Amino acid sequence: MGALIIAVDGPAAAGKGTLSRRLATEYKLAHLDTGALYRATARDVLAAGVDPADAEAAAAIAAKLDPATLGDPALRTEAVGRVASIVSAHPAVRAALLEYQRNFAYHPPEGTIGAVLDGRDIGTVVCPQATVKLFVTASLEARSGRRLRELEAAGGPVDAAAVLADMQARDERDSKRSSSPLKPATDAVVLDTSGLDADEAFGAAVSIVRARIRSFSGSQA
Ligand code: DC
Repeated sequence: MGALIIAVDGPAAAGKGTLSRRLATEYKLAHLDTGALYRATARDVLAAGVDPADAEAAAAIAAKLDPATLGDPALRTEAVGRVASIVSAHPAVRAALLEYQRNFAYHPPEGTIGAVLDGRDIGTVVCPQATVKLFVTASLEARSGRRLRELEAAGGPVDAAAVLADMQARDERDSKRSSSPLKPATDAVVLDTSGLDADEAFGAAVSIVRARIRSFSGSQA
């Protein structure tokens, strides 16, 4: 078997990030949060005073992104998330970020046997040949409840109705855009985490990965 690539797609706050990091540790894989690429583009667009609707200017900024800044805590704000959702709808921005993602997947850092990539279009566009494809989802209520608790833990004032409306608007934009819309790959396994805690979601994901690796090894034998 070549590199082990696990694609984890799904809407905001479905639990993809936590799950992906745990899968990466479990299988000794590198991990790329591809949402951070769009968020970093949004941060740089905001800093440059560029209109997020300007596809060409946003793509030029995406092409110059410094991957060393992907851990920047400023990427986690709601304002950056909102602009990320706008710039990520531009095909030119997506094209500018594609090679970095594929290169990460197919040439993972030394000491790892593959990679986990989480995002919206990993199984459909970035790595259609991924070994395992998970589509992690949860109800809008469960996801906005999680986001609300995160924001409360961060100490900011939070408006539950606004968080729910914002998540609904982001879901609409992510799934209705014409370029790489959010949708499960035909060969993805859907994992609904609405009623699961992080440990249960991880257990379910490991079972799916194990079954897929077993059937993959069997078909190669
Ligand atoms: O997962 P996130 O909230 O950090 O993603 C930020 C935005 O980037 C979100 O609106 C969807 C977009 N995104 C995308 O279009 N494709 C990806 N592979 C990852 C994120």
